[in-house]
Amino acid sequence: MAEGLSNQAYQTLVGLVYRHSHIRVGPDKGLMLSNRLRKRIDSIGLRSIDEYADYLHETQDPDEIEELVDLISTNHTHFFREEAHFWFAVRTAIPTFLPGLQTSGSPLRLWSAACSSGEEPYTLALVVADLMQQRPDLSWGITASDISNRMLAFAERGIYRMESVEPVPRELLERYFQRGYDAWEGTCRVKAELRNQVHFQRINLFQPRYPVTERQHIIFCRNVLMYFDNQSRAMAVERLVDMLVPGGYLVIGNSESLFGIRHKLRSVQHGVYQLV
Ligand SMILES: C[S@@+](CC[C@H](N)C(=O)[O-])C[C@H]1O[C@@H](n2cnc3c(N)ncnc32)[C@H](O)[C@@H]1O
Repeated sequence: MAEGLSNQAYQTLVGLVYRHSHIRVGPDKGLMLSNRLRKRIDSIGLRSIDEYADYLHETQDPDEIEELVDLISTNHTHFFREEAHFWFAVRTAIPTFLPGLQTSGSPLRLWSAACSSGEEPYTLALVVADLMQQRPDLSWGITASDISNRMLAFAERGIYRMESVEPVPRELLERYFQRGYDAWEGTCRVKAELRNQVHFQRINLFQPRYPVTERQHIIFCRNVLMYFDNQSRAMAVERLVDMLVPGGYLVIGNSESLFGIRHKLRSVQHGVYQLV
């Protein structure tokens, strides 16, 4: 165990993280836990991780448990990450839905279900907006959700460092971002017309009921299943698949797999599955 972290405290913290988020913290992550929690523990006036674990064990303070999950979870993401998925969406998947949407008058619905700091749903919004320019008769929207309120608050502002938007094609960058000046030098902001297409809300993939009521044409749930055990992964996939329209798509990360999970999907390309 890492210095200052007893086995009991470790078990308490890992158990709380699992119960709240289903994230599995491996047995070799003691040092990571200590490092990530140190500042937080200081800031709330406790002296050690053991005290922190005792505090959480006794109080089960939901805000502090959320803070704990936030601190230990990985939020890494970037614009056009695993970009083939976005091109698949606009070049292959979405065009097949358009005739039906025209007839029914209903919107195209997309969901980024572990959106972190927003780069994934905004990338989707960029390519979909570009496609839908030719179809002003149709409406569309993206639900972007995450378990982390901190990430959602950041994402909702839509402000990124210029280095972060380097993967964005120049034409899309010029059309959908505005550069920051003065105090905002070195940053840019997603324009309101695009931000308005993305609706952020907090959703834990394991909460009893999802507040998303309409079925979705495509759900991106990428680079989060890898933090769950098989049983939790199966549960999340089953629930997301229930949220798809017939013929809808579930997109997972390229280093994730549905191996060992029973599902009603056919594999279409790397990371992309379709409800049949
Ligand atoms: C590595 S990021 C993935 C971001 C993006 N999907 C991508 O592929 O670039 C994983 C995100 O999953 C979120 N997360 C972890 N457990 C979750 C849960 N139970 N429900 C919803 N989101 C969760 C984390 O807060 C984090 O922002």
